[in-house]
Amino acid sequence: MTHSNLALDMRRQEEPANGERASYAYRDMDLLRFTTAGSVDDGKSTLIGRLLYDTKSIFEDQIEAIHVASKRRGDHTFDLALLTDGLRAEREQKITIDVAYRYFATPRRKFIIADTPGHIQYTRNMVTGASTADLAIVLVDARHGVLTQSKRHGFIAALLGIPHVLVAVNKMDLVDWSEEVYRGIVEEYSAFAQKLDIQNLVFIPISALKGDNVVDRSEKMPWYEGGTLLHQLETVNVGADRNLLDFRFPVQYVIRPHQDFRGFAGRVVSGTIRPGEEVVALPSGIPSRVREVATYDGPLEEAAAGDAVVITLEDEIDISRGDMIVRKNNVPTVDARFEAMLCWMGDTPMDRSIPYVIMQTTRTTKGIVGRLVYRIDVDTLHREDAETLALNEIGRVEITTAQPLFFDPYRANRSTGSFVVVDPFTHVTVAAGMIRGTVQTAERLRPELRAGRPVSPNVVRPAAGVPRAEREARNGHQAAVVWLTGLSGSGKSTIAHEVERRLFEVGCQTAVLDGDELRHGLCGDLAFSAADRHENIRRVGEVARLLFERGAIVICPLVSPFRDDRDRARTLLPGGRFIEVHVQCDIDECRRRDPKGLYARADRGEIPEFTGVASPYEPPESPELVLDTQALSQEQAVENILEYLRSQGIIAG
Ligand code: ADX
Repeated sequence: MTHSNLALDMRRQEEPANGERASYAYRDMDLLRFTTAGSVDDGKSTLIGRLLYDTKSIFEDQIEAIHVASKRRGDHTFDLALLTDGLRAEREQKITIDVAYRYFATPRRKFIIADTPGHIQYTRNMVTGASTADLAIVLVDARHGVLTQSKRHGFIAALLGIPHVLVAVNKMDLVDWSEEVYRGIVEEYSAFAQKLDIQNLVFIPISALKGDNVVDRSEKMPWYEGGTLLHQLETVNVGADRNLLDFRFPVQYVIRPHQDFRGFAGRVVSGTIRPGEEVVALPSGIPSRVREVATYDGPLEEAAAGDAVVITLEDEIDISRGDMIVRKNNVPTVDARFEAMLCWMGDTPMDRSIPYVIMQTTRTTKGIVGRLVYRIDVDTLHREDAETLALNEIGRVEITTAQPLFFDPYRANRSTGSFVVVDPFTHVTVAAGMIRGTVQTAERLRPELRAGRPVSPNVVRPAAGVPRAEREARNGHQAAVVWLTGLSGSGKSTIAHEVERRLFEVGCQTAVLDGDELRHGLCGDLAFSAADRHENIRRVGEVARLLFERGAIVICPLVSPFRDDRDRARTLLPGGRFIEVHVQCDIDECRRRDPKGLYARADRGEIPEFTGVASPYEPPESPELVLDTQALSQEQAVENILEYLRSQGIIAG
């Protein structure tokens, strides 16, 4: 095949900004996005150079420059790696995440390569470069066989849901074009890949340096009957991989040029939509019909995944940025709690006490990583217990967000199933996540509370009062919420009141929000079902936040048995100001103490859903403090809390 008469479109271009990257879908059937991962030693740069060179995608002056550079290095062969490496060196000065996007085209297809250098930060680079790829090329050096690194790349490709993985067994020239060597690698890698979820796995023996089986067929390996690498790239069927079923339209902004026109602008991230179809807006759930699907070039009969459009509806409904328009009978999950695979890219490890910024489609909210279910050892695929995730580590987590998200599992929808995690202080993207689904708990929030905003659209936030910082300055201490969780009878209330007394005596602004007390008034309508406890904790968390903003140290002794309820309360506050204290005491000891006689009654079956008896208690996984009230005296427990507040600079030392 010759590509001599190509019109070439080779540019380097940055991907769209974070929030949009995930929703970047493709309309053109003749466009293939692929990613290459591997180290320079594997011959990756040479392979890309070879693809560009043999498809005549390099401009003449660049070829000349490479000849000159090759000669200068005393090397009289033409070093294709210089092409890609040269571009990279220039780029490295500008961007932090080191992914280059290159375009080339053949008469059959256009290609976008996300080239990710394979040094230490391979995970970060690969995740960034591959998040929208249709295909991943994994390079294996024929001389070295299947190395850990090749497995890692396959694993990440599978994790990112890249449907096609092409293993290029490179440097065949250095193993005498041996079929046996090639077969050995195919066998070993296939055995490994069986454990992964890869739809389509293809192997090709190549020599990027000599050009065998890259663009042109090799004459050296007659035993290989498959197509060349370029042929595979040109013909792999990616149409079927697109989600054209589930219409999802995250609203980017509302266009209102005059009173009579209200349009919602954004990109269709999956599915299709036509005028006349019935839709609902999330989170409100209000139904309407599509009146028109407009574009810059005029109205469309139908919009599909990848199209940037403006949708107008038959009815005036209140929709704002971050909301989502979907088909009436096909809605995503709406939830503030979900499980996800998280690829950590931050230089500082994941911190489970910080409310991070979570960006998913056009939505931005705060979220806490409440639980690290396990970390994956990418070499062995084993799951291991871990405290945190550090740079390039991958794990399964549970996240609780302040506002609900509208999502699908990543497997079903790479746009609505992915999100990024941003550090609230540095604004750096610290992780990429892929949603697996909701956390499987029986307890669900009440529908009206899922909306995460006032039921009435007519309430407006009041102007800010005296800022917290001023109050803190006058009080001489910082505001904080000390949340005491534990079984009934563990000693929470006693400790809380004593801590308050001590703080009061040194002039601090304090308040205790005690479960038993609040349940006589503010929460008097609530019993102890899981849903009622959710609501109880939600209310107390909100009140705590109000008092916190007014500068107080708020102490909240509540059983609060469910982890996600506590996590949600945590998301309401800035990092470091929510102090979760596990007041620990064996259930047998609580039963023995039984200050209110409740255990005895619960054991007789008189109190339904009593925590520890007929309802679970989920201990915190990484509380700021644990107080074992069987080992500590009451005084010591109180002193420990005060000491913690001093150590954090909340009260003076
Ligand atoms: S929470 O679960 O919603 O956090 P909260 O702390 O407000 O509970 O109230 C717990 C108190 O209510 C306990 O100290 C106990 O005195 C009383 N109580 C009554 N019924 C129950 C029950 N089924 N489970 C736990 N506590 C109960």
